Amino acid sequence: MLRSLIVGCGSYLPARVVTNDELARTVDTSDEWIVGRSGIRERHIAAEGETTSDLATAAALNALKMAEIEGSEVDLIVLATATPDHTFPATATKVQSRIGMTGGFAFDVQAVCSGFVYALAVADNFIRAGQVRTALVIGAETFSRIVDWTDRTTCVLFGDGAGAVVLRAGEGRGDSSDRGVLSTHLHSDGRHHDLLYVDGGPSSTGKVGHVCMAGREVFRHAVSNLAEVVDEALAANGLKPGDIDWVVPHQANLRILEGTARKLGLPMERMVVTVDRHANTSAASVPLALTEAVTDGRIKKGDLVLLEAMGGGFTWGAGLVRM
Ligand code: UT7
Repeated sequence: MLRSLIVGCGSYLPARVVTNDELARTVDTSDEWIVGRSGIRERHIAAEGETTSDLATAAALNALKMAEIEGSEVDLIVLATATPDHTFPATATKVQSRIGMTGGFAFDVQAVCSGFVYALAVADNFIRAGQVRTALVIGAETFSRIVDWTDRTTCVLFGDGAGAVVLRAGEGRGDSSDRGVLSTHLHSDGRHHDLLYVDGGPSSTGKVGHVCMAGREVFRHAVSNLAEVVDEALAANGLKPGDIDWVVPHQANLRILEGTARKLGLPMERMVVTVDRHANTSAASVPLALTEAVTDGRIKKGDLVLLEAMGGGFTWGAGLVRM
């Protein structure tokens, strides 16, 4: 059975770090409120002129370096973003040209904060179908460009960044002891559009627009949707929460991560947490956190890793990966 092995990962964060105290100089907020409600202490913000494709390319090159694979060997790029450089072409094609990939194909997927899990599922299915041997899956965002910096209920929550993984086709027995992506599980429910959306776009207002969020409602849905999809992923593989070595969740709010850990009966030490330093980087948060835990040696070969995310749409999903 064909499996998608994660053979490398990499990330990139813009150099500029903005602390809560720095934000509180221009926004009616405080470090105490932001840390207490979300766990966020600081975020990285892209420099003027630094685009999503710049962040994505840097993360992709770092992932390729770890995998010891040349850009020319990549067959597919799936890039998850809600903040593309341009309306078209896809940001993925800009990355394609910049990593020296002249064959294959590249496109974007849009599932906001669930984007990386969606992109991983798409690439995994191309590999399982035998159509692709090597794929780059990227999550990259510059949310600083679409938040309303006068809206304290949203602007304090987001940051910029990018993360990437390299997938390569490998053989497995078809059970949960295999290395690689064991399964992915995606959901959406378009009825909740008005709880988390951007109030602009090329075909509606002709303007880029700003993030609008009913935070408390999103929080409530996130907790229940994530619990359900995690159960679904474990059941599909005949696994129990105790089998999970690491949870690499979307980083929206520390309280959501604590709720997930409690629900799974796992100690917080098994959750990879970056929300304190990165804030919510939307599609980039899962690969940023994964790269951090692989690079610092927490996540090791053979470990069972649960990835999960929830975002605008609503969209949500999970993936189980044996490293
Ligand atoms: O990534 C996609 C998924 N997104 C999420 O999962 C986000 C989910 N939601 C959340 O993380 C939380 O709901 C928030 C962190 C956004 C907000 O926390 P909350 O505990 O739900 O607070 P709230 O929105 O109910 O606001 C409580 C109070 C309000 O004041 P009143 O009406 O009680 O007087 C707000 O006006 O806090 C006020 N407030 C602030 N105060 C200081 C809202 N934002 C701020 C702020 N600084 N930045």
